[in-house]
Amino acid sequence: MKSSIEILVCRKSSCKKKNSSKIFDLISEEIEAQGLRKKISVKKTGCLKYCSNAPNIKIMPDQIIHSKFKRKQVENLITMLGKDIKSKKSKNSA
Ligand code: FES
Repeated sequence: MKSSIEILVCRKSSCKKKNSSKIFDLISEEIEAQGLRKKISVKKTGCLKYCSNAPNIKIMPDQIIHSKFKRKQVENLITMLGKDIKSKKSKNSA
């Protein structure tokens, strides 16, 4: 089953230097911790062309870029995306 939201974490040089690998791990752990594995997936990706604002992540399918993304933002991001999924689901069933 395809996840409804995909988080792309840039793994190229500028972002890598700013700990994007750690951010990837934290996002993955937080998705698991919040029980959203079937709804949200995380993948490493190539340069998102915002290198000077590294580290960058991109939320799909809405293509929202979060620049200078910090580890402490991970929990809030996943919580927010989880709420988004629930509200879209309830709108669709209304
Ligand atoms: S290296 Fe990450 S946006 Fe370019």
